[in-house]
Amino acid sequence: MTGRVHGKIALITGAASGIGKACATHLAREGATIVLTDRNGGAGAAAAAELGLPHTFIELDVTDEAGWVRAVDETVAAHGRLDILVNSAGIGVLGDVERATVDDFRRMYAVNVEGLFIGCRTAIAAMKKTGGGSIINLSSVAGLIGVPDLAGYCASKGAVRLLSKSIALHCARAGYGIRCNSVHPSFIDTPMVEAMAHGMAQATGDLAKVRTQLEKAVPLRRLGHVDDVSNLIVYLASDESRFMTGAELSLDGGLTAQ
Ligand code: NAI
Repeated sequence: MTGRVHGKIALITGAASGIGKACATHLAREGATIVLTDRNGGAGAAAAAELGLPHTFIELDVTDEAGWVRAVDETVAAHGRLDILVNSAGIGVLGDVERATVDDFRRMYAVNVEGLFIGCRTAIAAMKKTGGGSIINLSSVAGLIGVPDLAGYCASKGAVRLLSKSIALHCARAGYGIRCNSVHPSFIDTPMVEAMAHGMAQATGDLAKVRTQLEKAVPLRRLGHVDDVSNLIVYLASDESRFMTGAELSLDGGLTAQ
């Protein structure tokens, strides 16, 4: 059997839904063994069952440092190594700077930034012992440009962008063989965007209109598909991208080219 990531061991957060789930499916198809993780135990176990063995599920809330250590330890105990980490777990709460609550801001920071930070450092401790690996962090176009109604989300995704570069440079300097890159999608058709569109439609009650507005904001005139993202993530996870680290990759139908 061959595949672009054949024989590699991948841990994916947020793998019960949307982009994380699509990455699990795509990386498995390309020959990796996947440890799916999510705070949603039921949906995560179901996603792993769809893939079948040797792929498995571990319940993990990314804000739980001890949980991270357990998940990485279990992965290494079962498979001998960890080669790929995809940090896809994330939350988005609508709110401009005047309406966003401090609680929402902290919640997004805890999951999108602190959880990802803990994950990277825990994975690096394992990866550096077995010759390296690839870390892929889900940021967003909202980590590159401002969006008025997403104050806390923009702040968290901007932090992911520069945290990824800092990690990339640290690992390069240390000679660990670990690469770290960030991915910046625009609106991808997932439950997260569906929920945000519902929130935006609350005033008018016109969900179809909101979706059309989102599509029109993108020069390619459509929402992204999860496979558009997993295509890039397989590339970053594979050795094809072996000279890439500290890069920020827009995947946005031209949104940030304007
Ligand atoms: P989604 O809502 O479909 O899936 C997110 C998954 O993360 C869910 O399964 C959820 O249970 C899990 N999760 C949430 N908090 C968690 C926690 N504390 N610990 C563990 N798991 C947790 O979202 P989607 O769209 O797949 O997003 C994935 C990533 O991509 C997120 O980081 C998001 O910010 C980012 N992104 C999404 C875009 C989109 O348009 N869908 C655009 C740009 C970035």
